[in-house]
Amino acid sequence: MTYSDKALIKEKVNSLLSKMTLNEKIGQLYQAPYFSDIVTGHSFDSSQTIKRIKGGMVGSILSVHDEDVIRKLQKTAVEESRLGIPLLFAFDVIHGYKTSFPINLALSNTWDETLVKKIAKAIAYETSHRGLHLTFSPMLDLVRDPRWGRVMESNGEDPYLSSILGKAYIEGYQQNDLSNSDSVAACAKHFIGYGHVEAGREYNTVDISKRVLYNMYLPQFKTAINANVSMIMTSFNTVFDVPATANKTLLKDILRDELKFKGVTISDYTSTEEIINHKIADDLKDVAKQCFNAGLDHEMVSESYIQHLNELVQEKTVSENDINESVKRMLSLKYELGLFDKPYAYLYENSNQYLLNESTVKLAREAAEKSIVMLKNDQILPISKDKKIVLCGPYVDSKDVIGEWAALCKKDDVTSIKEAFINSNYSNMNDETKDNVKNADIILMALGEPGSHAGEGNSKANIYLDKTQKEYFDSIRKINPNIVLIVFAGRPLIISHYHQYAKAILYAYQPGMETGNAIYNLVTGKVSPSAKLTMTLPYHEGQIPIYYNHYNTGRPYDEKRPKYRYNTRYIDCPNEPLYPFGYGLSYGNIKYLDFEIDKQIFKKYDKLSIKVTVENDNQYAVDEIVQCYIEAITYSVSRPVNELKSFKRVTFKPFEKKIIEFELSIEDFRAFNLNMEWTAEHRKYKVKVGPNSRDLISKKIEVVDEVS
Ligand code: BGC
Repeated sequence: MTYSDKALIKEKVNSLLSKMTLNEKIGQLYQAPYFSDIVTGHSFDSSQTIKRIKGGMVGSILSVHDEDVIRKLQKTAVEESRLGIPLLFAFDVIHGYKTSFPINLALSNTWDETLVKKIAKAIAYETSHRGLHLTFSPMLDLVRDPRWGRVMESNGEDPYLSSILGKAYIEGYQQNDLSNSDSVAACAKHFIGYGHVEAGREYNTVDISKRVLYNMYLPQFKTAINANVSMIMTSFNTVFDVPATANKTLLKDILRDELKFKGVTISDYTSTEEIINHKIADDLKDVAKQCFNAGLDHEMVSESYIQHLNELVQEKTVSENDINESVKRMLSLKYELGLFDKPYAYLYENSNQYLLNESTVKLAREAAEKSIVMLKNDQILPISKDKKIVLCGPYVDSKDVIGEWAALCKKDDVTSIKEAFINSNYSNMNDETKDNVKNADIILMALGEPGSHAGEGNSKANIYLDKTQKEYFDSIRKINPNIVLIVFAGRPLIISHYHQYAKAILYAYQPGMETGNAIYNLVTGKVSPSAKLTMTLPYHEGQIPIYYNHYNTGRPYDEKRPKYRYNTRYIDCPNEPLYPFGYGLSYGNIKYLDFEIDKQIFKKYDKLSIKVTVENDNQYAVDEIVQCYIEAITYSVSRPVNELKSFKRVTFKPFEKKIIEFELSIEDFRAFNLNMEWTAEHRKYKVKVGPNSRDLISKKIEVVDEVS
């Protein structure tokens, strides 16, 4: 059954629904836990789960990944419940099931949607061959605060890039055919604003204006819906002072009415009952009433629906018709997945053979190579093989480079940097003795933060590398300053001190199992770095939140008068970040020579053609990510100083010059104006191109739209 069989699915769903009791319907709205080792909140007694499955009181199962258990539970549902409705098994497969790919924030540094789509397809293959039907991915939260541990799961700070990559994940997971047993359903999360938590503290309050919500946080979800995402998960936070899980404006007015989402909405882990702590509900019955009436279909692990929805229907405070609609959405998803025809289709004998395939591991290496950002290179990289090097630092032989949300990925599968050098027979590698450090041509040092310092529940107030590592770095640099520094982290850290002294810096985040091989290839020049940052790297913690697409102020900073007191600035720190969004170096010598736009006045229905001449002026073959931004010079409301609207990853041969073309439409100039109309006001704009969000060349254009 495919997406084109919608009418048939509808017929089957209606027929099944007509046979269901109210309790069986409510059961479809419950996601039960079952003795899982993965809990992200308080644990639940899952001893009731089997009994509930038999009674038709469970719709889906959370985080069970043992195939025998999946088989047992599915058999119970299909053979022992009255209607035999199969269960849906959902799991967080975020950046790899068994083959570990770089954490998602690192993957976004590739700016490569084709690669991300291939990776999602490979992840879906492993996941679906282990009995699972749905992954709680992609995470589409916009992130501006590196203290928040969950930045590692995101696509960074830009809504456009996040939309493009979010779509790639969804297409890769779902393959436009959920009944294909190599695909899994996708769940976009967290709806919405979770990345905006105050002070970067996990689960904290979110205070966001409607316009910022619409311009910055919604586009990713809009794109995900257009890409047919199956499910959307609500976030833990409040939006407009109401928890997202019980927020009718979000779930009905925006998601259903405006964005036309037809799939299933699911709460986050216990986020339904947490509305009691948010001081919105009195008790579990009130929770069920408020969340369900706000438009939430499926409840994750909390039991407010299974305990109270029936009673609420009898009292007529919840309508059975609404329950029918939610159940239909859930059953349709199960039909689309082909579960009614083949409830065990995703379970295989000897399923290990489907994991860690050679081609998948190769993809993991390519992803790692394309995701590691070279921030600095004072003519020290690449290392030629005759150089005497010392490998050192706590992360040089570490396997703690997979990152959080690692599903079944294991450290044992990781190749460390040191192992990669040994495997490649790099002959000039020396132990870390004082003499060797002194006499080395290059010190390759790896520092970082542990994987457990990022991810859910791991916000940090101090995002510097720890004191011991700083002292270590300083002690080595005093003996030999030729340091190539590799930084592993689940977030942007403050590395200003290292930037000052290291000769080269590779910001690796957590690249996964192919870490060592990828770094070996990059530092020895087998492959050129090509990644660019998707999250600003602050100069100092006190600048946070710091992001490229901020508004101007009434008293902008003036480079010509840096000390002028009454402009926006710090007296003890620059305004600028250490490295801006979009920044990253390669071994090429990339020059932006010129650019042309084909119109002075740009009207609705036109296409704006932009041509940029870019040259690689040296002997290395490299990829360059060419970026295109716009700026509204004036508007009825403040708009960001720069807004990314297009980009291209382009391969350059040695000494090659190319003309790169972009095409913008009127949509690219639009934003919500003072009256909350989605339009491009008739005004002057700038179109800009360049290698990052800071170093741009621009041209002016007049844009004419009508209110649509
Ligand atoms: C996280 C979600 C995740 C869910 C299920 C929650 O704590 O916020 O992102 O999908 O747990 O594991």
